[in-house]
Amino acid sequence: MSDVQTVEPILVMKNVSKSFGAVIALADGSIELYPGEAHALLGENGAGKSTLVKIIAGVYQSDGGTYTYDGKARNFRGPHDSQEAGIAVIYQEPTLFDDLNVAENIYLGRQPLRIGRTINRREMRRQARAIFEQLGVDIDPNRKAKGLSVADQQMVEIAKALSKDARVVVMDEPTAALSPEEVRRLFTVVNNLRERGVAILFISHRLEEVFEICQRVTIMRDGAFVRTDLIGDLTINEIVRSMVGRELGLLFPKTEIRAGGEVLRVERLTREGTFYDISFTVNAGEIVGLSGLVGSGRTEIARAIFGIDRYDAGGVYINGAKLKGGSPLRAMHAGIGFVPEDRRQQGLVMDYGIDHNVALASLRRLSRGLFLFRWAEDKLAADWALRLHLKFGKLSDEANTLSGGNQQKVVLAKWLAGQPKLIIVDEPTRGIDVGTKSEVHRIIDELAQSGVAVLMISSELPEVLGMADRVLVMREGRLAATIDRADATQESVMMASTGQV
Ligand SMILES: Nc1ncnc2c1ncn2[C@@H]1O[C@H](COP(=O)(O)OP(=O)(O)OP(=O)(O)O)[C@@H](O)[C@H]1O
Ligand SMILES: [Mg+2]
Repeated sequence: MSDVQTVEPILVMKNVSKSFGAVIALADGSIELYPGEAHALLGENGAGKSTLVKIIAGVYQSDGGTYTYDGKARNFRGPHDSQEAGIAVIYQEPTLFDDLNVAENIYLGRQPLRIGRTINRREMRRQARAIFEQLGVDIDPNRKAKGLSVADQQMVEIAKALSKDARVVVMDEPTAALSPEEVRRLFTVVNNLRERGVAILFISHRLEEVFEICQRVTIMRDGAFVRTDLIGDLTINEIVRSMVGRELGLLFPKTEIRAGGEVLRVERLTREGTFYDISFTVNAGEIVGLSGLVGSGRTEIARAIFGIDRYDAGGVYINGAKLKGGSPLRAMHAGIGFVPEDRRQQGLVMDYGIDHNVALASLRRLSRGLFLFRWAEDKLAADWALRLHLKFGKLSDEANTLSGGNQQKVVLAKWLAGQPKLIIVDEPTRGIDVGTKSEVHRIIDELAQSGVAVLMISSELPEVLGMADRVLVMREGRLAATIDRADATQESVMMASTGQV
């Protein structure tokens, strides 16, 4: 790896462009990938990273520019072509077939055949097992894909790539939904792939990950190439400045607030097998952080409060009144807003415009009887788009045309605009770029100042420590500790999450 420049690049894109109608998704994309390197692709939400990836994969055809792979000019007509040529793309939400087993997913469409052309299942399983062994991953090739964790699904996708001798593996925000241990395992596999000479293109909004596993970085802004450098030649500040084109403000602009009366009370809430005997309150104007390891039951509690999942015992009270469970609509009418963890699937109506999506939680306020004030809806959406630096063409564009991070901003806007009494935010800045993170924090802080009760789930300790007035720590489905802002430190929260107190 010491002298990558003496080898030929495996993939070169120069001045590639792509528009969708009036929206220029990619104005001038360029990148060079060398065998054996992990190359980071960085840029703000909507900078064009995923669009570049989709052109690499043949999902989109570029409007202009050149694309060379393995020494030849390419214009892949579809993902199948690029896969055949040795390019594998691991998307954030993998696309396995639930009802097939793991080995079948890996060898889909090209199973080893026996003489007489029946599929040789034993051989297929043996090869799959061998690949997992090489990767140092423990997954049973016989099990159904259904129910695999996101992390394991990614591993199956990577195994599939290896089984095809992929020479380029692209990972578009692979770590966003992984636990810290799963991220470690992925990084071991990335290094393993590099040693075999595979070129990795790695997209993430977590810069510390990029510093850990990448050797080079390409930065994009507004659909255009900004720079490529060795990672060691850049500081975090330089990277951020190249991404956002300006200096960033304070990351956690927390203001002191005086908490008002109780808004949410959770009493002895229990869902068998998931969480037990959970009691806590959130007051008006207060930000309560719900911390704990991934899988400790945090998201499940939020879902139960909002009525998505049932609970077996205990109760939820809003302003002292018992909220009947089991109905998100009822929870909404009681004044609860919920920004779910998995926003792409749960938070948006993908074929509605940005404007309708933003207004969804405010319909009562924007209408009289059956009449909806379109101008009010437009104004609401326009205001929030501005506040959250939303990158879009027209406000009436469908949500599915937005970049991943911008879709998440729309979900945030929808609930924030709904003027809830209590807002539950699950991983509010996941997938949000560094430039907008502080903006999201500022808005949550403002909400609290205006008297909204906030329950914030976050795996990012600095975010919890920076924002929360009180930190509840979950461990294995139980409330392990409640720590006041003054006593909340990295150590105290970690120790409570892992059971060392
Ligand atoms: N199919 C489409 N139709 C219309 N516009 C699109 C389409 N795909 C992407 N865009 C626009 O192109 C721009 C770049 O999007 P892209 O998904 O490449 O961003 P990104 O860098 O991956 O951002 P993120 O970090 O949020 O994932 C965005 O403004 C997006 O709205
Ligand atoms: Mg993207």
